[in-house]
Amino acid sequence: MRPINLFDFEKLAKKTLTKMACDYYAGGAGDALTVLNNKQAYNQILLQPRVFIDVSQCNLTTTLLGQPISIPIIIAPTAFHGLANIEAEVATARGADHAKTIMVMSTLSNAKIESVVNASHMPIWFQLYIFKDRGATAALVKFAETAGCKALVVTVDAPYLGIREDDVRNQFSLPAGLSAINLAGYGADQIVKKQDESGLFAYFANQIDPTLTWKDIAWLRSITRLPILVKGIMSPLDAKLAVVHGVDGIVVSNHGGRQLDTVPATIQVLPEIVKAVDDKVEILVDGGIRRGTDVIKALALGAKAV
Ligand code: LAC
Repeated sequence: MRPINLFDFEKLAKKTLTKMACDYYAGGAGDALTVLNNKQAYNQILLQPRVFIDVSQCNLTTTLLGQPISIPIIIAPTAFHGLANIEAEVATARGADHAKTIMVMSTLSNAKIESVVNASHMPIWFQLYIFKDRGATAALVKFAETAGCKALVVTVDAPYLGIREDDVRNQFSLPAGLSAINLAGYGADQIVKKQDESGLFAYFANQIDPTLTWKDIAWLRSITRLPILVKGIMSPLDAKLAVVHGVDGIVVSNHGGRQLDTVPATIQVLPEIVKAVDDKVEILVDGGIRRGTDVIKALALGAKAV
């Protein structure tokens, strides 16, 4: 069956991928209520159409941080594409190139930064996790910059990893041959099996810095010239703080419902965040977007892209 919508891809993935991989990609924290709500909230928002307007010429292009893209849709960062495809994030980058849009590659990618950057003519942005080892973090930022990444997207909602119960049951780990390859050399590339817990949860507890506060944006500024976006903003108060601390963009995100369960859908908080930010920086939103109509709703509510 040829997939014609994103739900079809999910069905095919279930047939093709291992259960551990599928559960990891699809999983949410706790009861996964926010995963569901992210999607359902879009269904509650209805479009009021206007008619008799010349739509023979439609232009979907836009820019993000001044970088032109063909559609107001970019590829959000997600970890471990090697669980789905032998070429991992290189294959995803080729897709982004084909669609003429930006891909945000994850710190936890299975492909090397330079291979991903070289697979697309379009900008690759780098999603950054800040490690307890600041030397390793600074080196990673330097790799990303040198390889040609065009922005940093710092995840701010994961001081600890959310508890995804399927990953606990499956004792999630990366199969042999896959690693967080860009951290090789810093003793942080292996995600190994742990008794009675998710190996990725254990990895986060060991490696990721839970002390982060707004002051760390200044630290990042001191080590890079790349634009900095913060991903994981759900409150207008935090959005204002992000602007005060000089970020270049905000991603309204609840990490796809994978971090704290029972938070609102991203589309529900987007309007108040747009109001608080008052056009000072560009705003992106992710979570629950499955249809073109969802994209239109997000743009209508003030996102620059999804
Ligand atoms: C996740 C992390 C790695 O959601 O971002 O699994």
